[in-house]
Order: sequence, then structure tokens, then C-alpha cells
Amino acid sequence: MRHLIEPEDFSLEEIEELVDTGLKMYADPKAYNKACENKILASLFFEPSTRTKFSFDSAMMRLGGNVIGFSDADTSSAKKGESLADTIRVMGYYADLIVMRHPKEGAPKLASQYSSIPVVNAGDGGHQHPTQTLTDLITIKKYKGTISGHTVAFCGDLKYGRTVHSLIRTLARFGTKKFMLVSPEELKLPSTLKRQLVDKYGVELVEVPYIEDVIDSIDILYMTRIQKERFFNEADYLKLKNSFKLTREKLKTAKSDMIVMHPLPRVNEIAYDVDDDPRAVYFEQSEMGVYVRMALIAKLLEVGPYVRS
Ligand code: NCD
Repeated sequence: MRHLIEPEDFSLEEIEELVDTGLKMYADPKAYNKACENKILASLFFEPSTRTKFSFDSAMMRLGGNVIGFSDADTSSAKKGESLADTIRVMGYYADLIVMRHPKEGAPKLASQYSSIPVVNAGDGGHQHPTQTLTDLITIKKYKGTISGHTVAFCGDLKYGRTVHSLIRTLARFGTKKFMLVSPEELKLPSTLKRQLVDKYGVELVEVPYIEDVIDSIDILYMTRIQKERFFNEADYLKLKNSFKLTREKLKTAKSDMIVMHPLPRVNEIAYDVDDDPRAVYFEQSEMGVYVRMALIAKLLEVGPYVRS
């Protein structure tokens, strides 16, 4: 039985295969609409979500499966004081796969130790978000043709942004050797992660304070929102909340084939007038999340293209 708790749980070959399978599913979703007949996904969201939760639900339904779960932990027995371990144990009787988001870092890992069915981490605190990484990679492959070989800038809350933490590690594994990091001083990439990128993957990190410093030289701009819910006090958040914003004006000097990505939700870091620019692909990115999650569900349940012979 496999779990997906952090991107390193899958080899590079497996990740690329998931991306390619997702692209096939995107091209012809109907071909897979019975793959998960009689299968049930338990969707356990202890933290808010729009895209991750509903794209997983949609993915399971497009595969012909069913979904149970909650998106407000206050409606579950967690509210009565039940431990995560007990909740997870019983889920094995009700479902075939668990997709779980939790504010505590490490909670999905703990869940996987008590689970009799595969567990997928749909985001744990400011730690990891491996299925957003799959979503990001399928988007990069769709628009840029390959996963590696691009100059990527990450912009925004690099300290708490779990999507950045998962994606930058994975792109480094795929061989990307240089990243531009655009953030205010207070929201820089954590130093342990920086050290890992440099020591383990020989990556060069270029830190700059403004988007304008890098915009004309990059192939991919990965924007993120300031993670308000991870701040310890409101004053620190208010000080930083408008520290950067991508506008149409700033895009003027960017390459014509650059792409702007964002895991969403956007708060105010991308002006609405950027949406019509052909380089803005963040809504398409959300769409692609459904197809790569279809591929992931099929892999973990060993159905459809992943059926064992
Ligand atoms: C991200 C998350 O939850 O980490 N959203 C998502 O899953 N698409 C990004 C965010 O909340 O800023």
C-alpha cells in the first residue's frame, strides 16, 4: 500500500508518469469514467479548501467513484475530542482512500501510520502540499513541454507557503539548478530548506525583493498569497499584506512565452487585469489539478491505467 505524504514518496519516474497519465485523462476523460466504480474516497478537511477538496471530489466522481467526508471538522467527532488515530482507523471500514488536510504539520504522516487504506496529504500546515505540486507540474508540462529546463521565480510568502516548499524541492530533484526567490525579508524561504536545496541538489538561489528585478529573465513566475492564517499576530500580517502585486504594467518586459502560475486563492497579489493576459494560466492550473488527481487516485487504488496484471 502506498501513501502520498510528501513529494519524495514517489520517484521522479512515477511523478512524470502521473503527469503524463493526467494529460491523457485530460484529453479523453470519458475513457476512464468507470475506473473507480464501487470505490469510495474519504475527504477529511480539517482546514478550509476550495480547489484541493473539490478537484479531488470531482476527480473521484469523473472516475465513477463516490465521495464521503467533511470540510468542517466541527461536524466530525474531532469536536468531541476524538483522536486523529481513531478517526483514521475507522475510515478504513468506510472508504478505499483518504485525502486529508490538517493545520498541524505531520498530521497526515501520523494518519498514514494508523491507516489500513492509502492516505494522501492535501496540505499540512506550512509544511507540504504534494498534490498541488503534481498540479503545478502537469501545468508546466502542458504549457512549457517539459518539467525541467526553465528559469523559475517564486514570489510571495516563501516562508509559510507549503505549495512552494513542495514544488521547489521537486523541481530541484528534476534537475533545475537555479531559482529566483522574490519576497520581503520576513517571508523568505526557511533556511533549512535553502540548505537542503544547496547541499543536496547543488541549486543556486538568487534572492531579490521585487518582481521587477527578475521579470524579464524568467520562464515561469509562481505567485503565492501571504498565508495570513499562519501568522502569530495580526500586526505582522497587516505590515506585509500588500508587499507585492503583479500588474499588467509589470508584465510588459516579461518574455512572451513566460507563464504566470498561482495555486490560488488569490487575495490581492495579482491584479485582475492580468487575468486576460495569455501568459496567465492560474485558472487552467486549477483545471489541470482534476486530471492529475484522477491519475493519482487510479495509481493508489491500482485501477484503470494502473491496474495490476
Ligand atoms: C494552497 C494551499 O492550500 O496551500 N491552495 C491550494 O491548495 N490550491 C495555497 C494557499 O492557500 O495559498
